Amino acid sequence: MTRVVITGTGLYRPPHVITNAELVEAFNAYAALQNEKNAARIAAGEVEAMVSSSVEFIEKASGIKQRYVIEKDGVLDPTRMKPRFAPRPDEHLSLMAEIGVAAARDALAAAGRRGDEVDAVLCAAANMQRAYPAMAIEIQQALGAGGYGFDMNVACSSATFAIEQAVNAVRAGTARCVLVVNPEITSAHLEWRDRDCHFIFGDVCTAIVIERDDTAVAAERWEVLGTKLATQFSNNIRNNAGFLNRCEDTDADARDKTFRQEGRKVFKEVVPLAAAHIEGHLAALGMESTQVRRYWLHQANLGMNQLVMRKLIGAEVDGDVAPLILDEYANTASAGSIIAFHAHRADLVPGDRGLICSFGAGYSVGSVAVRRV
Ligand SMILES: CC(C)(COP(=O)(O)OP(=O)(O)OC[C@H]1O[C@@H](n2cnc3c(N)ncnc32)[C@H](O)[C@@H]1OP(=O)(O)O)[C@@H](O)C(=O)NCCC(=O)NCCS
Repeated sequence: MTRVVITGTGLYRPPHVITNAELVEAFNAYAALQNEKNAARIAAGEVEAMVSSSVEFIEKASGIKQRYVIEKDGVLDPTRMKPRFAPRPDEHLSLMAEIGVAAARDALAAAGRRGDEVDAVLCAAANMQRAYPAMAIEIQQALGAGGYGFDMNVACSSATFAIEQAVNAVRAGTARCVLVVNPEITSAHLEWRDRDCHFIFGDVCTAIVIERDDTAVAAERWEVLGTKLATQFSNNIRNNAGFLNRCEDTDADARDKTFRQEGRKVFKEVVPLAAAHIEGHLAALGMESTQVRRYWLHQANLGMNQLVMRKLIGAEVDGDVAPLILDEYANTASAGSIIAFHAHRADLVPGDRGLICSFGAGYSVGSVAVRRV
């Protein structure tokens, strides 16, 4: 069977940081404004007063300390509370494609590949900025790639699900070199006016090059030992924004048109789901959980990752076994586990095995087992 390898990863990191202190200050100013506006209705018991957010809660509940965003001023403006993006003419590269190309160039350079050597581009992310033409095809054109491209969305598991599609295409011989790109502009789907979730997300883009081992040129290669995907329906993470909205005559700015979740339920249900999934995948590969040198896990919540690891290993593990990037990046949807893989793999030696695993809305869980060649 054709051996398939990951030969490069790339990262686009947005230029602006929002610290928890800045975030909380903006949210609390927004809440005060709302309470002032609604003072009479609050006094009459018709509307509930908004409650302030706190840095201490955010860090304790999630482990997140800051996030990167593409546009900061609009998010921190208490009269706006969302990023401000200028519409672009159709002839210009779209925002998702722009950050996709930046991460892709980084990944291609690491793999020693030119754009014209890529013959499939998968743009996999939790949100798409338009229906068509596919951002993947726009990225394909910008890089001078051949073959085909398509967009796909499996929420926070988009990257791992795309890696399996890429691996299968290379293994089946329908593509030789596949680029997976994960442009996550989560600042545009996050409800910055809701204190239960306003701290959760950050923007980023990751990219991964997957190709045949026998024609790869990169010195650093990661053999894909196996992939495993699973889904199980849940309403606990949901976003109702979609193309039917304008026909439903509902409010386009209503709460259900951005990200919302039952955080506690997600935490409780997804931890055992992810741990059992990883256990099953490793067992199918004939591996013990302790034989995995490093776990590059989805980055949504520090406590969640600690619990998944405790279930798997039966003990506390440190950042050397399961590195954390969410303190710096927050939850970057599908890109989180790929950022962890990108930033924390250089110290592994040939023969070391690792596991990339995502979990999120759907529910969806995806894992990719690798071995450094
Ligand atoms: C979102 C999450 C961090 C919230 O943490 P939590 O410990 O579950 O917190 P809760 O929502 O139960 O809230 C606990 C209390 O803090 C309060 N609180 C919520 N947000 C707050 C904020 N920003 N500041 C201060 N207090 C806050 C709540 O109102 C609640 O108060 P109460 O006990 O008086 O009712 C956590 O549930 C989580 O990460 N879940 C998994 C999410 C996930 O992985 N999602 C995938 C997305 S892709």
